[in-house]
Amino acid sequence: MEPARILLTIGGGIAAYKVPELLRALQKQGHAVRCAATPAALRFVSPLALQSLSGEPVRTALFDPSEESEIDHIRLADWADLVIVAPATADLLAKMAHGLADDLVTAVLLATRAQVLVAPAMNVNMWTHSATQQNLETLRSRGVLVIGPESGELACGWEGAGRMSEPADIAEAASLRLGTESLQGHTVLVTAGGTAEAIDPVRRITNRSSGKMGFAVAEQAARRGARVILVAGVTSLTTPAGVVRLDVESAAEMRDAVLAELAGATIVIKAAAVADFTPEIVEEGKIKKEGLADQSSLVLRLVTTPDILSEVCGLKEDRVVVGFAAESDNVVEEARRKILRKGCDLMVANDVSRVDAGFDVDTNAVFFVTPDGEVEETGLLSKQEIASQILDRVEKLQGERLE
Ligand SMILES: Cc1cc2nc3c(=O)[nH]c(=O)nc-3n(C[C@H](O)[C@H](O)[C@H](O)COP(=O)(O)O)c2cc1C
Repeated sequence: MEPARILLTIGGGIAAYKVPELLRALQKQGHAVRCAATPAALRFVSPLALQSLSGEPVRTALFDPSEESEIDHIRLADWADLVIVAPATADLLAKMAHGLADDLVTAVLLATRAQVLVAPAMNVNMWTHSATQQNLETLRSRGVLVIGPESGELACGWEGAGRMSEPADIAEAASLRLGTESLQGHTVLVTAGGTAEAIDPVRRITNRSSGKMGFAVAEQAARRGARVILVAGVTSLTTPAGVVRLDVESAAEMRDAVLAELAGATIVIKAAAVADFTPEIVEEGKIKKEGLADQSSLVLRLVTTPDILSEVCGLKEDRVVVGFAAESDNVVEEARRKILRKGCDLMVANDVSRVDAGFDVDTNAVFFVTPDGEVEETGLLSKQEIASQILDRVEKLQGERLE
């Protein structure tokens, strides 16, 4: 197997002296590592040491013609399977949170589509400052992974949280996130986004789903080596790397796409917000006010849409099927009822009345509900992290099935 490609970006903190050790630890785990450093980082760690260990020049300058001609920041960003920021200074975290790109490291961090893992290290007061904590929150909500910092005696003389995690721990966290290939050989069929039900050629009924949860599931499944087919409803999101996307609009179209792909799928994860009702009649021409019998109101008759999850569960065979329940009241009770009614293996229930979870935000807080009524609550996490936890559970169910 090809070694995983890790771009190690280094910030200007004292903990940069530990980076050669981190580089060695990553290499020992079989990864190919390249280094990029901020100008401040080079005050703390010798580029010669990094170059000798990595066997590659250390990239530092955005505008150096010799560096840029050899490999520009976009190619470096595209090259990486994983980007580590260690030490992640308060300054780098702020720049990342705000999308600044005024040097090579920050430009790469903005351009990359790879998973980013940050290892913060700083003085305890810098760490606990609300600016830093808010920047961290922003980054977490975008799916950036954070390791550490540890508490203890700091180089600045203060005691508290701010010490960079040990190189061995960072290397292990990186390896865990990299091509575990744990879903290799599987085809994961994911649905995402809301559906849109046409009223006439210009109007439609839709819902507030952004598709972010389902897209995160598709992205994480692809990272684990699965073939991923993403049936996407109404969404403005870009397709995650390595994912085959099929765009649909209505619940009926989503049903057709899912059933057409079902035969090849070993895992089905239905994160889409499928409309429960659709207009009974789709008018061929635009409905005009003047044409109404009663000019003050329009009556639309809605009929129920096909229940895709139940249909998929009816054809389940050996597949693992995961459903989602978006509820605003009695979330867990509704999810318990729904999993029994539908017959899937796991229900992911979220409270869509919360502002920080559910529709159109980067975070979610869900309950995992099993057919025997067991419930586990995640707390507020990024949708990428929730996606990862869903896939961990799916893999466990697959494993139990093979025993
Ligand atoms: C001796 C010294 C030690 C520093 N250590 C840290 C540190 O551990 N963490 C941090 O966030 N900033 C630290 N700084 C401040 C950063 O070097 C400074 O914010 C710099 O602009 C960071 O640049 P960069 O984020 O582009 O690497 C330190 C500065 C000095 C002079």
